[in-house]
Amino acid sequence: MKRRLVAAALLLCMTAPLLKADEGMWLPALISQRIEDMQAKGFKLSAEDIYSVNQASLKDAVVLFGSGCTGELVSDQGLLFTNHHCGYSYIQKHSSVEHDYLKDGFWALSQADELPNPGLTVRFLERMEDVTAIILKGYKSKMTEDQRQALVKKNADKLKAQVEKEGNGIKASVEALYYGNQYFLFVFREYRDVRLVGAPPSSIGKFGGETDNWMWPRHTGDFSIFRIYAGPDNLPADYSADNVPYQPKRFMKISTAGVKEGDFTFVYGCPGSTQEYVHSEAVRYIQDVSDPEKIALRTTRLGIMKKYMDQSQAVRIQYSSKYASVANAWKKWQGEEKGLRKNRVVPVKQDYEARFEEWARGTRYAWLTEMLSNLYAQRNPIYRAYEYYNETVRAVEKIQKGMGRYVNPKDYYQPIDEEIFVAMMEAFDKALDDQYKPAYFLEKREEYNGDMVAWKNAVFANDDEAKALAVALDKHYAQEIVPKVKELSQAITLRYRDYMQGQMEFEPGKAFYPDANLTLRVAYGHVEGYSPADAIYYRPVSTLKGIIDKDNPDIFDYNIPQVLRDIYARGGFESQPVCFLATNHTTGGNSGSPVLNADGNLIGINFDRVWEGTMSDLVFDPEICRNISLDVRYLLFIIKEVGHAGYLFDEMEFAD
Ligand code: ARG
Ligand code: GLU
Repeated sequence: MKRRLVAAALLLCMTAPLLKADEGMWLPALISQRIEDMQAKGFKLSAEDIYSVNQASLKDAVVLFGSGCTGELVSDQGLLFTNHHCGYSYIQKHSSVEHDYLKDGFWALSQADELPNPGLTVRFLERMEDVTAIILKGYKSKMTEDQRQALVKKNADKLKAQVEKEGNGIKASVEALYYGNQYFLFVFREYRDVRLVGAPPSSIGKFGGETDNWMWPRHTGDFSIFRIYAGPDNLPADYSADNVPYQPKRFMKISTAGVKEGDFTFVYGCPGSTQEYVHSEAVRYIQDVSDPEKIALRTTRLGIMKKYMDQSQAVRIQYSSKYASVANAWKKWQGEEKGLRKNRVVPVKQDYEARFEEWARGTRYAWLTEMLSNLYAQRNPIYRAYEYYNETVRAVEKIQKGMGRYVNPKDYYQPIDEEIFVAMMEAFDKALDDQYKPAYFLEKREEYNGDMVAWKNAVFANDDEAKALAVALDKHYAQEIVPKVKELSQAITLRYRDYMQGQMEFEPGKAFYPDANLTLRVAYGHVEGYSPADAIYYRPVSTLKGIIDKDNPDIFDYNIPQVLRDIYARGGFESQPVCFLATNHTTGGNSGSPVLNADGNLIGINFDRVWEGTMSDLVFDPEICRNISLDVRYLLFIIKEVGHAGYLFDEMEFAD
């Protein structure tokens, strides 16, 4: 018995680092460094299958969709899957009272019926390479950070211009990795004729709405379908009726074999932003100040919106999209704050910093963590003011208008804005020291005797008064707040550049991945449920039965289309899979990313994370961090049974 225990403990020690390794967003061009680990965990392909510049590889079937989502090619005729919430604004633009595609869904019956979307682009990665030497050419160690940045910009612009000379939709970007210890060139080909092919009704594509957002169990059919068009030469072209479906170098085969707990999965996409290597003070600020304060402000704002939305169907439609975007981060921050506390991230980092300093004594890395701590002490008050401006002043549409920004009158309901004005300006005034406010604000506050309602009445009755306030606030923000934030952030980045190098030398056995920056990455893991709280275990696969269980015509978020009820009543669909959980390390921007199996075939589309695990943007806990994917079999089911668009299957390729 005892021997078995010892053996089990040893085995745990040996496998623990392997399990941990589900953390990471790896650069495809360097995936050979991870391929052995991937293969040990079940992956059956090679590094060249993931990324190659000499032959077609999976990277040729992944795109940056629009400015912040991912999409994947699924046919040799440019057919593309992404999320419903990534296609949402385009679906909305094509919708009218007569053709409400948001409500009813949309299915093009032929290519001629596919709908163009001016302004929408997709970017294929042609290649990525380390260009650190080129970008830092001319750098001298006594340069200031400003001088260094100017040099980096100059060298990067030159390189980009050289690459983009080719034309034909070629776009280049140079991105800093590890706080500028390394620079990579990314060369894309950008296509600009992308048409809408299909979308489920929102009651499927957005099923669960805000109620289920960031949550498990989840039942959202979060997909939409587009097609990329090209000129006759298969190169990017402006929209033209003469354009033809783009023929990709590679597209993904679809696997209908299904997923089960333990299966290897990987996600190929464009994660937006993470901060995995920051100082404990950065985490403490987020956990104790930023998240709680922003959550409280948004709770107030959402409460005001909801009150009016509940009273009127028209207002609900006007504000549903705004509400969704305010609520999205609001809910994410709640999970993040909880997760950071629960994982004791601040003390764990403090302990790490103490060990780092001990190791760094006498080296060029000595005192870095101390310097960072001091810099955060300087930065935090001004950064807090900066965040308050964003969450209060900039949340008032009347002030936005006063600053000259466009606010769509179609989606504007003044009573909501008036109430938000009073609540947000009161919060702004109360939370911030007067030094962070423009003189005009202080004068007016005096004039109205601090009565925010009276001031609100004046602002909404008189456009000049609104404009004067908006301009004063905007000017103060742009001239006093932002430059100071920038200056301190630069000083912090400079220290992080060394601290990052120091961390790598301190832990030579650890594999470091660069923080996410919307460049293409690979994350790998496996299908797995999780335990959100004591005595609860969430299984990793949800089914159509769960949708029927949630179905309720009286609850907007859970009111499914009648057709889905009818299909279910026919029988045989109880165990139709809908969504699944896995341990892939993802973040915002990974929406729409392909989720692939060990053979590199498409099994799902990533669209969310569980909120208990959203602290993975700062620290990844393999126990609780899960990405949520749509099971590709639910997508196929909806296309066939709800959209009656099974003809789309003809151009797809099925692996099994
Ligand atoms: N939470 C997901 C993401 O971060 C989905 C957001 C869209 N859906 C919503 N109900 N607001 O983008
Ligand atoms: N829904 C997010 C997106 O739009 C993905 C969720 C997340 O991992 O943050 O990219």
